Amino acid sequence: MSKLTSMGSVLIVEDDESLSKLIEKKLKQRGYRVERTGEGKKARDLIVNGNFDVVLLDIKLSDGNGLDLLRDLAPNTGAKFIVITGYGDISTAVEAMKSGATDFIQKPFSFDILEVSLKKALKEKRLEEENQRLKSFLFEREEEALLETKNPKFAQVLSLIKNVAPTDISVLIRGETGTGKEVLARYLHKLSPRKDKPFIVVDCASIPDHLFESELFGHEKGAYTGAISRKVGLVELADGGTLFLDEIGEIPMPVQAKLLRFVERKTFRRVGGLKEIKVDVRIVSATNRNLKDMVKKGEFRSDLLFRINSVEVEIPPLRERKEDIPLLTEYFLSRFKKRIKPQTLDLLRRYSWPGNVRELKNVIERACLLSKGEFVDQHICLPEEESVCEEKFFEDLPSLKELELRYVAYLYRKLRNVDKVAQILGCSRRTVFRKLKELRERDKYPEGGSLTDPAVHLY
Ligand SMILES: Nc1ncnc2c1ncn2[C@@H]1O[C@H](COP(=O)(O)OP(=O)(O)OP(=O)(O)O)[C@@H](O)[C@H]1O
Ligand SMILES: [Mg+2]
Repeated sequence: MSKLTSMGSVLIVEDDESLSKLIEKKLKQRGYRVERTGEGKKARDLIVNGNFDVVLLDIKLSDGNGLDLLRDLAPNTGAKFIVITGYGDISTAVEAMKSGATDFIQKPFSFDILEVSLKKALKEKRLEEENQRLKSFLFEREEEALLETKNPKFAQVLSLIKNVAPTDISVLIRGETGTGKEVLARYLHKLSPRKDKPFIVVDCASIPDHLFESELFGHEKGAYTGAISRKVGLVELADGGTLFLDEIGEIPMPVQAKLLRFVERKTFRRVGGLKEIKVDVRIVSATNRNLKDMVKKGEFRSDLLFRINSVEVEIPPLRERKEDIPLLTEYFLSRFKKRIKPQTLDLLRRYSWPGNVRELKNVIERACLLSKGEFVDQHICLPEEESVCEEKFFEDLPSLKELELRYVAYLYRKLRNVDKVAQILGCSRRTVFRKLKELRERDKYPEGGSLTDPAVHLY
């Protein structure tokens, strides 16, 4: 970065030409990027388009009042404003500060005074930018999600989450892997009054046992070998926001005791520290284990469970909310502007999704990335599942005719060869073609969207 840009950029809005030129010269000598104007109207254009760090603004301009400019622009641009007022004009200075100026200086002023004020304003600006950056870092894992459902059980969960969001009640989210526990926790945070504060994830499954305490509560310099500087823990980072204890069932017993103490009092000590620190956090936990069973087996503290599950919700696995499969599929496809054919969607509905929404998302995204055209059907690839064929195949109680069609479709998808299908079914190629045509007509598209055998189209 050049010296010029690193010093910062300043716009001088001053109608006293000789003063303005003098300031410009001195600032440029110090390495600032400087522009100047004496007119309010031009200043407005420059500020809106110019990306200045600091605006040095004289209140009395030839074509109007600098205060108006200040009122309009200070809240809406990233620039800091230092106002120049006439000697003894304290009421204007007060007015300027109220309108969002960072500082004011009175005429006549020395360059040193101006520079002190300028440096202060620049520091403030840099801090704001840094905060913005940190905030975006804290929230960077946030991604969009679809929080609509046609499933009555999940609908109940969503409405319960909406109801408790404005409170500080601790919520435990249960569900198999990939059902969207973290998605739901973030949704809860977003709906809460804490939404502009951090959402901090404590990944209890991946923190090594011996580091748990210091990860959660931080440590003081020299607390143990290797603690070369003070470290702020996750709990402290979450102050004002939500602390998400993910996979809480994985927390070792000794740490559970320490966590309980924190959850009860919302105070803690850094490892090696004496001071009791108080934070204001809302606790949301998630687990795919049965904590009540763990309590019975002596693997989880019942008093901790009692503290974290004031409200408990369970996200149903995807195989139990099949009505959402089309919804979610469309949602994942829409990001890539792709489409899927109804019979492939049928296939997705019939699969049991052991990896739940995560697995569905992966299957769709993979197909989107692989497919060149608008439709992704050819690239939808599901693992073989014998149990699906047996149990789920009959779930919607299909007629014999429907079953026959499904079986033909299944074989064709698997073998991609009409001769082989005919051989297995013990019928003629013509019969197979007829069935495939029926399927095609039923769904208006070729089965699976992937009937590449030209013979099919010849029929
Ligand atoms: N409702 C949803 N809308 C969009 N994406 C979702 C939804 N639910 C889950 N996902 C996606 O599925 C994946 C898994 O979600 P998430 O991490 O919340 O699940 P989890 O229950 O916490 O899983 P695990 O137990 O493995 O930690 C993520 O990529 C997430 O974006
Ligand atoms: Mg998770």
